[in-house]
Amino acid sequence: ARLVVLVSGSGTNLQALLDAVDAHGAQAYGARVVAVGADRSGTEGLARAERAGIPTFVCRLRDHATRAEWDAALTAATEAYDPDLVVSAGFMKIVGERFLARFGGRVVNTHPALLPSFPGTHGVRDALAYGAKVTGCTVHFVDDGVDTGPIIAQGVVEVLDEDEADAGAALHERIKEVERRLLVDVVGRLARDGYRIEGRKVRPQDG
Ligand code: GRF
Repeated sequence: ARLVVLVSGSGTNLQALLDAVDAHGAQAYGARVVAVGADRSGTEGLARAERAGIPTFVCRLRDHATRAEWDAALTAATEAYDPDLVVSAGFMKIVGERFLARFGGRVVNTHPALLPSFPGTHGVRDALAYGAKVTGCTVHFVDDGVDTGPIIAQGVVEVLDEDEADAGAALHERIKEVERRLLVDVVGRLARDGYRIEGRKVRPQDG
């Protein structure tokens, strides 16, 4: 399968996917990253793609008069690489109608909380502030809501007393360790086995 990965920041989830393809070979893993897109330039995630010799593109919201035009540009830039799956890994923008019309049902997102708890851009901090004893990460398909699509897999991470001390930075790192493994496993399985989405359930193709 052809993967386009969308990033905004450090790109450690992207790096985990790149390392999985390297370790297993694209054939055995079932997928390879054909391009990396970002909503801003100069991020570590883009640098990781460049180091791996993978094409990149940047679609910045502020370069477009409207959000709809940005969404159309992101769709066109992604489409150019003919992806089988789009992986949003730390991509901090909400894709629009056009993007979902083109890639709906094939966009996987990873979120650093146990959805439906703590959606949005501060999932780690919100779980900590709420006093949750466990939190974690969720890999899900993107639908037209925010962090609301069908859940594919989740991983649980304990919240520790000392997590209060650094506003959740250490907690987010612990979550990211689980998240990277979960994302690599899910993407490989979806690519190799195929899948179908039935309402809120995700099943293997012929399962
Ligand atoms: C991940 O925890 C992702 O769930 C969240 O931001 C983080 C991105 O990390 N949205 P990275 O850019 O993959 O290192």
